[in-house]
Amino acid sequence: MHQTASQNSNALLSLVKRADESGISSIKGIIAGILGVISDADSTPLELKNIIEVDPPLAARVLKVANSPFYGSPRTLSEIDQAIVWIGFDALKEIVITQKCNEIFTSHGKEVAGLTRAMLWRHSLAVALFAKLIYRWEFGKKGAGAYTAGLLHDFGFIVLDQLLHNDFAEILREGTMVRQSIEEIEQKRLGFDHAMVGGILAEHWNFPGELSAGISHHHSPQNASSEHALLAQVLFIADCLAFNNELWYGGIVHGDDKQCHSLCLALNLSEYALNRIIEQMRIELAQIDDKGYFK
Ligand SMILES: [Fe+2]
Ligand SMILES: [Fe+2]
Repeated sequence: MHQTASQNSNALLSLVKRADESGISSIKGIIAGILGVISDADSTPLELKNIIEVDPPLAARVLKVANSPFYGSPRTLSEIDQAIVWIGFDALKEIVITQKCNEIFTSHGKEVAGLTRAMLWRHSLAVALFAKLIYRWEFGKKGAGAYTAGLLHDFGFIVLDQLLHNDFAEILREGTMVRQSIEEIEQKRLGFDHAMVGGILAEHWNFPGELSAGISHHHSPQNASSEHALLAQVLFIADCLAFNNELWYGGIVHGDDKQCHSLCLALNLSEYALNRIIEQMRIELAQIDDKGYFK
């Protein structure tokens, strides 16, 4: 059935309203307080410490990671202050946001049409690491915002799974059978896609503007404002790299490899640079396992 643009936008708005009234809104509660501190370049270790200490499961996890053999502390770290000093403020911020986003992926739903939450989470982690490494190595920026946006870029899938489960299962099934991207199938069937759903919810929940723009435009960087264009472009490339390195759901194609190639050219990302980034991403993904994050 052909839907008009206004019917599509009404359907999207009603989905946002349902998300607000359902268990999905717990996503906001899980990360809202932390996002400000993580994304603010001027935040202080004390602000982060205060957030961690009022969340005992998070504090326990942070200390577990800080005490992992990877960080090689000569003595057991039992206080968040000690962890900040030993592993560093930026590394701790990354651990905190990774833990909290993991909570989102593990507390909602199970497998749908062959796509498991573990696959979706691993894909999100890979995109976060790729985006951060591109920012750091190619643009000399810290990339904390890019990392967070990578972790959350596909959270619209969780919303679709929870609130439009049957449609979402059909979309995934169709995605494994045709050479069409998921977002094209979503647009065709629903009139909107998971990037729009995630982006509009992030905006509605007052997440930082950079984050909602990155999520909204991770499949359409050409539509991002000039302020957020780099993040959207980097997320698009990071997503392509994850697809091409089997860090996604088998059988599904990424939107546009040609667009990815021209974006890499426009951003001066050479094949050599991308290969180094892929290698490092694999090292960091393995390190996350070694640090015992999710065990
Ligand atoms: Fe996506
Ligand atoms: Fe993705």
